[in-house]
Amino acid sequence: MFVKRLSVLKDILPDLFTANKTICFINPQDLTDLNCFSNKNTVVLTDDIRLYSPLSDAGYNCKPDVNFLADVSIILLPKSKELARELILLGSTIANKGYVVIDGDKNDGIVSIIKELQKKISFEVNLSKAHGKIAVCKTASGNLPSTWHTNKFNKINNEFVTLAGVFSSDHVDPGSKLLKDQLPQNLNGSGADFGAGWGFLTNFLENLELVDNIFAIDTSKRALECAVKNCNTSKVEFVWDDVQQWRAPKPLDFVVMNPPFHSNGKVDIELGEGFIISAAKNLLRNGKLYMVSNRHLPYENILYRYFGNSKEIGGDNRFKIILAEKPLAVSRKKT
Ligand SMILES: C[S@@+](CC[C@H](N)C(=O)[O-])C[C@H]1O[C@@H](n2cnc3c(N)ncnc32)[C@H](O)[C@@H]1O
Repeated sequence: MFVKRLSVLKDILPDLFTANKTICFINPQDLTDLNCFSNKNTVVLTDDIRLYSPLSDAGYNCKPDVNFLADVSIILLPKSKELARELILLGSTIANKGYVVIDGDKNDGIVSIIKELQKKISFEVNLSKAHGKIAVCKTASGNLPSTWHTNKFNKINNEFVTLAGVFSSDHVDPGSKLLKDQLPQNLNGSGADFGAGWGFLTNFLENLELVDNIFAIDTSKRALECAVKNCNTSKVEFVWDDVQQWRAPKPLDFVVMNPPFHSNGKVDIELGEGFIISAAKNLLRNGKLYMVSNRHLPYENILYRYFGNSKEIGGDNRFKIILAEKPLAVSRKKT
């Protein structure tokens, strides 16, 4: 846990975060990670709208990308090793001639990243605590492994592009593929792809003749950056938002989704449930929800509470494809 490791670090290097130093905080996981950092001298780099919005409201200078310098960079490592390397490179560039603080949980692979770095640079602090590590070095971006790179698009099937760290960045998710294969070719009107990721389902929907427009919604700016490249028509509107808060300008004819069920690395069924509730709130009375879920996930109760009808229309031993109709959350007519 970052906050616990930070308090030990402050005892070891009390001068690191003095008030006159500018800080670049990269990839916070939680709003509380910023508790000890003043909004006056801290820039936050996050691609997650759930952090970007409240931190901006709290007066932090938030940015989804970089072109500035700071005295200290703090990087909270993500699970994706490729993205972790990218963020360390970024932090080293930003804190040119300053300090880089790298923090992460053991479960997210920090031990191997620090080992890899130790071959190239020496750390002033390298301590283990609270199931993770925090390490500090003077910046030496020039000395980082030459194979590390930033913002490099990967190719999938020579058809789609993705970036490190986005969901299913090196293959088409099998659940989403199964859902795509079950979607009716005559889907029509106005719809949304909830948690659109890099745009696999949106790309399929935009190519259906009777579909007029699609909202592709995701909390990750990085994922949407890929989706923009993977979708080719003006039918798609990309929305950087939390599906649970988002309301369609007009009620929708259909929602398609492969909902997430993890938050900060832990199973979070309520998140998937929130997607179902939002679908019910955004659909027309005769609108339809098509979703895929892992077979073991118990969404039946929430579907029962928010839709008049729901049934399994396909799947295999790993996934179920569900069609839900007659949303009960609201009753609205198309305007
Ligand atoms: C299981 S992935 C599916 C991605 C994509 N539809 C596909 O098939 O590859 C779920 C997606 O939901 C996004 N997500 C997670 N929580 C969200 C939220 N509250 N609002 C919007 N998107 C969210 C994640 O960033 C991720 O891209």
